[in-house]
Amino acid sequence: MVVEEFIPNKKFKFIDHAIISSESPSNIALVKYWGKVPIQIPANPSISFTLNKCKTTTSISFQKKASKGVSFKFFFDGLLKDSFKPKIQIFLKRIIPFCPYLEHYSLEINTKNTFPHSSGIASSASGLSALAMCIVQFESLLDLDIEIGFIKRKASFLARLGSGSACRSIEGGLVVWGQHKEILGSTDLLGVKYPFEVHPVFLDYLDTILLVDKGQKQVSSSLGHDLMHKHPFGSQRFDQAHRHISKLIPIFKTGDLSNFIKIVELEALTLHAMMMSSDPYFILMKPNTINIINEIWKFRNLTNTPLCFTLDAGSNVHLLYPKSSLKQVTKFIENCLSKYCQDGQFINDQVGNGAQSL
Ligand code: PMV
Repeated sequence: MVVEEFIPNKKFKFIDHAIISSESPSNIALVKYWGKVPIQIPANPSISFTLNKCKTTTSISFQKKASKGVSFKFFFDGLLKDSFKPKIQIFLKRIIPFCPYLEHYSLEINTKNTFPHSSGIASSASGLSALAMCIVQFESLLDLDIEIGFIKRKASFLARLGSGSACRSIEGGLVVWGQHKEILGSTDLLGVKYPFEVHPVFLDYLDTILLVDKGQKQVSSSLGHDLMHKHPFGSQRFDQAHRHISKLIPIFKTGDLSNFIKIVELEALTLHAMMMSSDPYFILMKPNTINIINEIWKFRNLTNTPLCFTLDAGSNVHLLYPKSSLKQVTKFIENCLSKYCQDGQFINDQVGNGAQSL
């Protein structure tokens, strides 16, 4: 797959005005992406579950204009949000070679999240993928020959240019981003649906997100990715991610939850170990992140419930478990884990179907 696929080579039939709406969920990586080269090319392949409830809904009004250039207004929850503008400005400028029609329209972008904005849950994956989905849907009005498969591929390609992991939110279920020798069709350019057999246990896997700290994190993901360049364990880590994906292939097929748990937890702790051993070093976990991890290990030893955790670049804990364990895990959260959450808050989510146009 090459970048040129996404550079339009025909004349568009411009229209005066259109309103396009899309929704897109967040995703949680099982094998983590941490480290990249410009522009948003991952240092290793990653694989994630697309989520369902934690999502962004975006609607864009496109109005044809006489002058040429990027022009947009951005509203979040109905309010003009200039603080979000720089990130979107960079994104729109970056995608102009692939979406040259954008320079002929003024955009009014309206967006809202289903999860609280200040919950510590990154909204960049759902936000950028919803935005990308709207833009490619609009393109399909200017070029009626575009097929749905291409819309999704291009939306994922554009989303990646906004926020790397956002490219894994367009497709549903298990999504791979980054080239892996055993995964046919995998590419650094966009997220593709995991192409092999998946045991039914993983099709409706549950993810309860425990909100340990709802505040802004002290170190941005961009800085963390950059620190992987001169990281003393960088190349070993990137090799490990390849190996973990290879090991997951038979696990996904057979539904082997005990080996699934081993890889997922090792990935989460390795991600944070990379942060703790970079220069400068930093810690994003909080005391309650560790308390929760220890409680999970105790609970699993005692009950044999196949519950495990993963972490993203923050202190919140994602609890991953099969639907058949819902009752036991719900009780465990209520009786034990919720006390470690800020304001007792958590979000029940599960594997979902990816971005949709509305
Ligand atoms: O897409 P970014 O730049 O926000 O990076 C995401 C990195 C992790 O969430 C830590 C891992 C991942 O693969 O999603």
